[in-house]
Amino acid sequence: MRDTKYMAIPPGAILPGSLPRFKIYVLAPDGRYILWARSGNEVGRDRLAMLAEMGQKEVFIDLDEEIKYEKYLESNLGTILENQAMPDDQKAEVFSRVSTNVVKDTFETSLGLGTMQPESLRRTQALVNHSLMFIAESNSLKPLAKMIGHDYKTYEHATKVLWFTVAFLRRNPDVLTQIVPDIEAYHEVQVKELLKQCGVGAMLHDIGKVFVAPEILNKNGPLDAVEWEIIKRHPLTSFAMLADTETPVFVKKAILQHHEDYNGEGYPMGLKGKNINVLARVLRIVDVFDAMTSRRPYKEAFSPMEAARIMVGTPNGDAASTDDPGRDARDLGMKKCFDEKLLKKFIVFLGKVSSEM
Ligand SMILES: [Fe+2]
Repeated sequence: MRDTKYMAIPPGAILPGSLPRFKIYVLAPDGRYILWARSGNEVGRDRLAMLAEMGQKEVFIDLDEEIKYEKYLESNLGTILENQAMPDDQKAEVFSRVSTNVVKDTFETSLGLGTMQPESLRRTQALVNHSLMFIAESNSLKPLAKMIGHDYKTYEHATKVLWFTVAFLRRNPDVLTQIVPDIEAYHEVQVKELLKQCGVGAMLHDIGKVFVAPEILNKNGPLDAVEWEIIKRHPLTSFAMLADTETPVFVKKAILQHHEDYNGEGYPMGLKGKNINVLARVLRIVDVFDAMTSRRPYKEAFSPMEAARIMVGTPNGDAASTDDPGRDARDLGMKKCFDEKLLKKFIVFLGKVSSEM
């Protein structure tokens, strides 16, 4: 049996020539953990190659050095995700871990200080920047597909909304040109910059929820009128928290409008149709899709195709405009919440994701 003092990590996360500030172990055939690299020592390319030759699919760190390991991953994320030799599922694991930590820290710091800290925004931007090419490209669809159906967790939700949004937009340059009309859809630098901005918006769309009590957010049952009013404030709070930052206006608007429904019955302003920012319409779809395909204490996760069917609208479908769409929309069509054209494109995209499952 494995020693619970140690945690397995992918060898590909260790960069040749770097100086990890944590100890690394290998597991010997007799079950002993043997120190392989001391903290602060350079790990050479030849030693890493030897590990690969030995067929070591994982190495180990002390569990109490996990935070140091996570800092290392965050500082080196771009280089790790560019490593051609590292399998995509291991890259996905590294990306998810760093992303979840950045979201968690951002939420917790914002709660403590009541505002969005420049350092939190910088970390979020860096995370999106360094992971952009990995999460936008086709080889990451398989690990993305594997994340569908997990338990719903706020921090992981933000990561998945980021991932789905960037992956979807990358494959739909015409939507990018709707978001920012003067962009050249095939100009790589412009596209990358725009995807980055959209990704930051996707990560932070629910940041205002830090001011909603967990008892309301995680309530196992219908919300009363007062609780609803509190929930419905969060897009405005998210918007206000980013107001003084250099976040582009279209991203701020998308965050403010991510619960607006296409038929005008959403919140906070009841905007309708094309008056709703395009990125907000995308986020509305992705947000609902992830909520419905995540497992909750009170419901099983829908499969992607079931979720798509409900979102497109069942025959008697009525919209359920809710913050947790998975809660009330179980048997309801949600068609009128969404921009139908965008939803169709998203479902085509889901077909590609699902073929990887
Ligand atoms: Fe929200």
